[in-house]
Amino acid sequence: MRRMVAETRLHPADLILPAFVREGIDTPVPIEAMPGVVQHTRETLKKAAVEAVEAGVSGIMLFGVPEDAKKDNAGTAGTDPDGILQVALRDVRAEVGDDLVIMSDLCLDEFTDHGHCGVLDDAGRVDNDATLERYAEMAQVQADAGAHVVGPSGMMDGQVGVVRDALDQTGHEDVSILAYTVKYSSAFYGPFREAVGSSLQGDRKTYQQDPANARESLRELALDLEEGADMVMVKPAGPYLDILAKVAESVDVPVSAYQISGEYAMVEAAAEKGWIDRDKAILETLTGIKRAGASTILTYWAVEAARALR
Ligand code: PBG
Repeated sequence: MRRMVAETRLHPADLILPAFVREGIDTPVPIEAMPGVVQHTRETLKKAAVEAVEAGVSGIMLFGVPEDAKKDNAGTAGTDPDGILQVALRDVRAEVGDDLVIMSDLCLDEFTDHGHCGVLDDAGRVDNDATLERYAEMAQVQADAGAHVVGPSGMMDGQVGVVRDALDQTGHEDVSILAYTVKYSSAFYGPFREAVGSSLQGDRKTYQQDPANARESLRELALDLEEGADMVMVKPAGPYLDILAKVAESVDVPVSAYQISGEYAMVEAAAEKGWIDRDKAILETLTGIKRAGASTILTYWAVEAARALR
C-alpha cells in the first residue's frame, strides 16, 4: 500500500554521477574523507562511465585534477585542449557516446594555484570580469572536447550569459548549460577540497552565498534564466531543501540539486561507526531531495543507488 500511494519515486535516470579524474596517476587514488570515492585514472574513469550507463544513471559530471606543477594564477590548464578535463571528456565521449549526458564542471578552482574560482586582481581579490573571459574560453574547449552540457560553478556575475555567447559563437549551439545558480558558501564542501587537491586558503564568501539568505537565491535564479540557463542547480542539497523547493516552484526548467561531498561524508562516517543504517539513510536523503522539487540529483552514490532502485 505504501508503495502504491507513494508521492515521490526515485528513478535511476534522476541521478547524475560526479566523478574526479586526476592527471599523472596510474592507479586510482582513494579520497580519505569520501570513503568509496576515488580520483580516477583516465582508464578507470572510462570504466566508471560504463558502469553508470549500465546502472541506468542519466549523466556524469566531470572534474579534472591537474598536476600541481600545472597550476597557475590564471588556471591555464583549464583551457588547454590537452588539459586533463578536456582529455577526460574526449575519453568518456568516445567510450559511451550519447548513452550518458556528459557534463563538465566549468570553474577555475581546480586549476589555479591560489584555489579560487576565478583569476585575482592586483589586490588579490577575485576579478569577476576577467574571470568571465576565462570561462568563455573554457566553455569552448570543453564543448570542443565533447561535453553535452557545461556546468558553470564559479558564481561569477554574468557567467551564464558569457558561456552561452561563447558556445553559440563557436558552433556549439546544441551544448546546454546547467547553471550552478544557487551556491552557498558551505562548510560541507570540505571533503571536495581534498578530492580536487585544492590549494585554497581562506574562503569563497565574496562570491558564494550566505547560508542565512534565501531571497538572493531567487535573484540569482532570475538572472541565470535571463542569461540562458537550460537547467538550474541548487547546492548543497540537504541543508537547503527550502531553497530547492522555492526554486522548483518558480521555474519551468529542470532543477538539479547537488548532494555534496560533506553530505556524503556525514552518512558514510556515521555508518562506519554503526550509528545509522547506511543504505536506508542514503535513499532517504535522495528521496527528501526529490520530494523538495529536484528533477535530477548529483550524488556520489549515483551508481549504487541506481542499482538499488532497479
Ligand atoms: C567548484 C565546485 C565545488 C564543488 C563543485 N564544484 C567546490 C567549491 O565551490 O568550493 C563542491 C562539490 C562537493 O563538495 O561535492 N569547482
